[in-house]
Amino acid sequence: MIKIAPSVLAADFSCLYEEIKKIEGEADLLHFDVMDGHFVPNISFGPVVISSLRDRFSLPFEGHLMVANPSQWIVPFARAGCDMITVHREACEDPHQLIALMKKERVKVGIALSPATPLDTLEGLLSEIHLVLIMTVNPGFAGQSFIHEVLSKIRNLRDLKKKGSFSFEIAVDGGIDEKTVQEVVEAGARILVAGTAVFGVPDPQRALVKLKEAGSGSNDSVEKDRS
Ligand code: DX5
Ligand code: ZN
Repeated sequence: MIKIAPSVLAADFSCLYEEIKKIEGEADLLHFDVMDGHFVPNISFGPVVISSLRDRFSLPFEGHLMVANPSQWIVPFARAGCDMITVHREACEDPHQLIALMKKERVKVGIALSPATPLDTLEGLLSEIHLVLIMTVNPGFAGQSFIHEVLSKIRNLRDLKKKGSFSFEIAVDGGIDEKTVQEVVEAGARILVAGTAVFGVPDPQRALVKLKEAGSGSNDSVEKDRS
């Protein structure tokens, strides 16, 4: 099964509630891109935006923290209402400590890898986490082009998962649209974060359905789930 996580970064912030309402019925989780102007050259929003939306939607919220000091932000974002928090491996000095903090706060644990970061940086962590988010663009902005070279990393992660019988989910983020969706699903991704392809078109709900259909049409979306 393919899950789609619309990224609100690509929504119209002047009417965020209405934008999310449009896709609420079809989305599997909501992806919030948090940027601090240090880890990435952009600033987005903080926990107050998430807490103001939290009670209005029953969808799971994922906070994708593109911040230089994630240990400072896990508690505020957990308490703002995130069900899952994804931190960047590149920003974690002590990932075990961060994972323990997330578990203490009762949020699911995600770790993101920027395109240049190899999979071996996850060594010793894979049995501890719920999600690996493979960035298919360099983090910082919505609307960038998909980096095809990352496909082999997704395939290798799928193989590692199978070999080790791990239960983490494989997510991809950046440049996902109807053209790239099939490639990432065939490579092993099951959660697809999509911003521009959902919120940048006149009918976001229809775009989401079409993305899901395109992903579910891939043979691998069913076969690999059974294996
Ligand atoms: C990039 C963000 C992505 C981005 C996705 O730093 O992590 O979630 O908003 O947007 P699109 O789908 O437009 O690449
Ligand atoms: Zn993201």
